[in-house]
Amino acid sequence: MSHIRGRLQKAADELVAKYTTSIPFDWRLYAHDIDGSIAHAKMLAEQGIISAGEAVIISQGLESIRGEIEKGKFDFKPEREDIHMAIEARLMEKVGEVGGKLHTARSRNDQVALDLRLFAKEAISETSVKLREFQRALISLAEANKSVVIPGYTHLQPAQPVLLAHHLLAYFEMFQRDIDRFNHCLKQADVMPLGSGALAGVAYNIDREFLAHELGFSQISQNSIDAVSDRDFVLEYEAAASIGMMHLSRLAEEIILWSSAEFNFIELDEAYATGSSIMPQKKNPDVAELARGKTGRIYGRLIALLTTMKALPLAYNRDLQEDKEGLFDTVDTLLSTLEVFTGMVATLKIKTESAAQAVKQGYLLATDLADYLVKKGEAFRNAHNIVARLVSYAMKKGKAFDELSLTEYKGFSPLFSEDVYSISVESSLAARDVIGGTAPKQVARALANAKKIVEDSKVRG
Ligand code: ARG
Repeated sequence: MSHIRGRLQKAADELVAKYTTSIPFDWRLYAHDIDGSIAHAKMLAEQGIISAGEAVIISQGLESIRGEIEKGKFDFKPEREDIHMAIEARLMEKVGEVGGKLHTARSRNDQVALDLRLFAKEAISETSVKLREFQRALISLAEANKSVVIPGYTHLQPAQPVLLAHHLLAYFEMFQRDIDRFNHCLKQADVMPLGSGALAGVAYNIDREFLAHELGFSQISQNSIDAVSDRDFVLEYEAAASIGMMHLSRLAEEIILWSSAEFNFIELDEAYATGSSIMPQKKNPDVAELARGKTGRIYGRLIALLTTMKALPLAYNRDLQEDKEGLFDTVDTLLSTLEVFTGMVATLKIKTESAAQAVKQGYLLATDLADYLVKKGEAFRNAHNIVARLVSYAMKKGKAFDELSLTEYKGFSPLFSEDVYSISVESSLAARDVIGGTAPKQVARALANAKKIVEDSKVRG
């Protein structure tokens, strides 16, 4: 059997067959297609639409096809239009006429919607597991370097000292929100569309609740036209993946910067770096660069499907076949990026010495000096101006704050006294003792919370 021809008598043009086939990519749905078909056959028998014996023959045939595919013995003939036709045709070859009863009360339109939802649910679970593993790697790195201080930046200019752990936990928060987004996406995908038929529902006494239960769905779709034409759940996965990749690309960028000779805050493990074919001294952060690069590709997948679906009339249209490659590629790219990032972060070495060196430069304590004057009664805006002039002066003299004499300080404000020398990186950190701040006490609490979140998720699975 080749492409479905229906009332058409001519065979499809060879180029048309090649143009329209989805086998080269939708073969990936085979397990979901078989699971869906077995549940469907079982339901048809339960409802007396086919006999129990027929359902058994069909199910056994489908299981043996699964075996063929898994052993690489299945011939994915390109002339079969899609994975659904390929499996059905093979079923007929194996079990004969009775195989033709499987498609009773079903259309490929609700069938493909089902398959893709099953695929998406599985992909979402894997994504959440990988996000959790990645969060664990971030937590471990933060814990192992609890007291390391780095310059915090705004505008990529040194701003204020922060704990490295605080910086890393910023990413923990981002990925926590990503997990929430994927959880929402799971809820949307968890809707069973079978029974919608081609678009109007089916004219048989089927049991949709039974199908939902068999296939592990918590809900059934409420409108057949919507169920065969909606791909929001794919868009939601791609949108959540785009945001997740955006987060990964920000970390990628920082890994690239931090491993440069100019920053020199981290050392990548050799297993996660590459050499140069021409410059022997190089150790390149290619993994991070590729993740940064692949982010664009994931955004592209989202925009592509949004564009495909824009102004698409109800209900099913073949345009929808374009949903799959983008989703598969998004899942593959996101999962592999998370895996490799987990390893890269777990093996990162922090260059404590040069981080400490960087913290000493750049007048990172300027805000603390202004806060000092405020506490002595100066208005903040005046204090800011005074310290700005003080910084210019110190820069001209080539001096750090603690190298200025008290007389020099007093030249800028009479409020300065001996205790100005007690301002330090440590006092600066400790002073930011607000929830969400970088004070060691707060960061220790945040770290404990983060650990609890990942531990709880282990229990819940
Ligand atoms: N390969 C098709 C797809 O991915 C399956 C559904 C085909 N339905 C149809 N009426 N031609 O969308």
